[in-house]
Formats: sequence, C-alpha cells, structure tokens
Amino acid sequence: MELRKKITNILKEKKKLRLDKFIDFLLYKNNSYYTSKNPIGKKGDFVTSPEISQMFGEIIGVYIINYWKNYLNSKFNLIELGPGRCTLFNDIFRTSKIERSFINLADIFFVEKNDKLIKIQKENINKLKLKNVKWLSEFKTNSSNPSIIYSNEFFDCLPIRQFYQKDNWYEKFVIYNNQKDIFSFKDIVVKNKKLLNNLEKYNKTGIAEISKERSVLFENLCKHIVKNKGLIILVDYGYHTPIKNFTLQTILNHKKTHIFDNIGNQDISSYVDFSELINIAKGFDLNIVNYCDQNNFLLSNGLNQRKKILIKELTKEKQKIIINEYERLISKQNMGKNFKFLIVSSI
Ligand SMILES: C[S@@+](CC[C@H](N)C(=O)[O-])C[C@H]1O[C@@H](n2cnc3c(N)ncnc32)[C@H](O)[C@@H]1O
Repeated sequence: MELRKKITNILKEKKKLRLDKFIDFLLYKNNSYYTSKNPIGKKGDFVTSPEISQMFGEIIGVYIINYWKNYLNSKFNLIELGPGRCTLFNDIFRTSKIERSFINLADIFFVEKNDKLIKIQKENINKLKLKNVKWLSEFKTNSSNPSIIYSNEFFDCLPIRQFYQKDNWYEKFVIYNNQKDIFSFKDIVVKNKKLLNNLEKYNKTGIAEISKERSVLFENLCKHIVKNKGLIILVDYGYHTPIKNFTLQTILNHKKTHIFDNIGNQDISSYVDFSELINIAKGFDLNIVNYCDQNNFLLSNGLNQRKKILIKELTKEKQKIIINEYERLISKQNMGKNFKFLIVSSI
C-alpha cells in the first residue's frame, strides 16, 4: 500500500498524530523517504557540503587524524552517522594517506537506514578495498575501544515536536479531512505538567522545537565516549540562542515545499538546537572543544591553504570551479553561517 494511503488510514483511526510521529512515519517507515530514496546530489533533492567540495572532508579528515595521533594512537572505532553516498568518508580515507596506521587500526561503522544508500556505500567501500567496515541500522556498540564519531546533516533529519505560546502553550498535531482529502494542523493546549515545566525555558520567545530522538541519541554517544574515550564531531544547521520562528522545512528537487505536499517523497528537516546538545555533553563532564559556524571551523583549520594548493596547477576555468565551491562552503549568507560544528571530547 502506498505511504499516503497508510498514513491517511492511521489518521482516520487515531484522529490526530503528534508532529514527530507524523515525520517519523514519512521518513523512516517501510518505503518512506529515508528508507527507499536516494535524496542526495543534483538529481536528488539537496546537495550537502561533502558533495560540494572534497576540501570539506579533507579538513575534517586532518582534524580527526591529528586527534587520533595525539590522544588515541591505538585500535579504535571510526563511526559515521548517515554516510549518504560515502563522499565524506572517501575524502577522510584519502586524507589518511598521511597516517596509514589510522585506517589500519580503525574498525569502521556506518549507521544507515537507507537501503539504496547502503548499496552505494558498499560499492564505494569495495573500491577502497576496505574489509573492516560494518553497517548498523542504529547507533549501538559494545566495543570498549575508543571511538571517533562524526556526522554531517544527520541530526537535522530526526523528528521534532513543535510548540508555541499564546494564552497557553499549544502543540501542533496533524489531522486528516477524509471528505476533502487534505492534511492540516490542529493546535492543542498542552496540559501535561512535566511538559509545561520543560517548556518554561522557552517562555521568552514563545516558540519551541523539541526532539527527543536527538537528545537520546546524543546522550548515547556521550555515554559511549565517557566510558571508552573519544571524540564526537557533529555538523548540522542549527542554532544556540532560542528561535523566534519554526525551522521545519521540506524540500523536493532543490525547491522548498510544504510538509503536506509529496507525502513520503520529499525531505523533511529542521535546525538542530545545539544548546540542548551542549548541555547534555556538559552533564557528562565532557570537554566542549569547539562550537562554531562552518565558516569559522573550515577557515581556522586550513581551508584557504588547501584551496591554494588545489588550484596551483589548474587552468583558469578549473580554478574558478574550486573557488566557487570554496565560497559556497564558507558563505556567510548560507552554509558558512547556518551550519555549525560541535566538537566534544572525553579528553
Ligand atoms: C541529509 S543526508 C546526509 C548524508 C551525508 N552525511 C552527506 O553529508 O552527504 C542524511 C543521511 O543520514 C541517513 N539517515 C537519516 N536518518 C537516519 C536514521 N534515523 N538512522 C540512520 N540513518 C539515517 C540518510 O539515509 C542519509 O544517509
């Protein structure tokens, strides 16, 4: 049965669905967006930083390899959450030629739910002739080795709930009108005391997007590196100060759409609340090594120097392409400012 039919049947029966449950269904249930579609690239719905330029992964690669050499220098787990087409991993792998023992001592794990992307990832890994790679459908490990965990545009996929304050706090639910065959929002007064207490910290702006999935996953990552040592690098678009508008967005074919369009066929994401994640890491007494925007991280870790080396012997035409990619990564109007790097270490 097609996904739209399934969700309308659920809504007919349940009358209303919490927004996070609705998103979860459209992104992660059988034959939904993230289990069956390849969303990345020009032919897909969006382009990510590693897909824009090899320099993005190379800068992260050098950072990770230096961390490993300085603090671990032993067998470890290299874990990527949501590797997409494996482009970021490929660039890190190529960079690891500067320190071969890094890859030789790594047990590599990819956390991925998308069958189409897993197939692409396996083809890429075969080309690299790597044997020590495992796929997991969720983050789970009983390894006691230290870990380096990283992700780009993973946490923004995870479902959220939306709340706003007027005379009371309201939560947005999804309903379905059978006669008109349309979905719409229904805003319901929040009565749950615990939830109202949690919402108090958002009183100033009266807007909140809360993702339990993000917090629980990040807590698990933190617990893991507290116990076994290691590093987390999380890159996503997000914010630290309270939002004044909802950030949920949907995209199809590189164009913004509405959440009730193209059911199950379009990307749904939202900005990550980094203050929440930083508080979680602090609660585990972890070291917040850095929280900054993408422009700041890439430039202070050698992006400009890398660009100069890359363009040195190229034709004017090809130089232009690299310079254009460089500018997209650091643009203060877009990716350079909206994307944030959070780096957390147990050491
Ligand atoms: C926006 S894409 C980013 C891909 C890649 N990191 C990049 O930057 O090009 C999100 C990736 O995470 C995967 N993904 C999303 N939600 C997931 C989940 N809950 N569990 C496992 N994988 C997930 C997607 O299939 C995809 O590979």
